[in-house]
Amino acid sequence: MTNKIRIKPYTGALGAEILGIDLSKTLSKKHFNLIKNTLNEYHVIFFRKQDISPVQLVTFGKNFGKLEIHPLIPTLKDFPEIIELKSADDGPGPYSRNSRIWHSDMTYTKIPPMGAILKAITIPESGGNTMFLNACLAYEQLSKKMKNFLSKLQAVHSIVMTNTKEEILSEQGLSRFAKMQKALPPVEHPVIKIHPETGKKCIYVNEAFTSHITGLNHNESDSLLDFLYKHLHNPDFQCRFIWEKNSIAFWDNQVTQHFAVGDYNTKRIMHRLTIEGTKSN
Ligand SMILES: [Fe+2]
Repeated sequence: MTNKIRIKPYTGALGAEILGIDLSKTLSKKHFNLIKNTLNEYHVIFFRKQDISPVQLVTFGKNFGKLEIHPLIPTLKDFPEIIELKSADDGPGPYSRNSRIWHSDMTYTKIPPMGAILKAITIPESGGNTMFLNACLAYEQLSKKMKNFLSKLQAVHSIVMTNTKEEILSEQGLSRFAKMQKALPPVEHPVIKIHPETGKKCIYVNEAFTSHITGLNHNESDSLLDFLYKHLHNPDFQCRFIWEKNSIAFWDNQVTQHFAVGDYNTKRIMHRLTIEGTKSN
């Protein structure tokens, strides 16, 4: 691999590919800083042709913080830090449902992850891209009055939002619901989050996990969330990553949302690391 490092921005909104770094090697301070600075500037970064082992993937991830062990999702054998996201043989399958909604990972926890690193193991014959959006840019384009109004609000996030009505009403649905609620009770986060390193502000509600805005009545909360989702989902704030085998995406989970496009009909296997976050505001 060439040593010439290059940063290739993806869209005007966010995302950049870093070329010329071999992630199988021990990360130098210089490369670590470059990756961190690029992540803070572009919010999601991409690498290609990184044929690295699970051990090397975990070693790479540990440079950026403590790796999280997910409380509910099963992990790769011998690698508790790696979640294996495996589709059905003929397409996304039922377990991908929650990835096919715009979301930040695990905002239903008190301190959601700082970021996640996803590596493509098996890619579909076509499709299966991942889309990202820049929630800082979405914030910046709100009016001053709206920014001010939102800055005073908190929203509740809950894992039980991932259940459909049919699932809750099904046999054992309610006990499963209660178990999830007990393991991960709903949490509150500010509607406008401040990035702990850059100080940038972003809109911090998502369709997958945000249940309501604290202190507003039902209609007000639903209407405000609808407005914010419509605003956030504007293509002006997005980029789309087309996977190849051994591609890696590393997103800042604090200021971005992502959406796994479910337009494929062959197997897709990804390995994911989750990096612990810090409380920012
Ligand atoms: Fe996700």
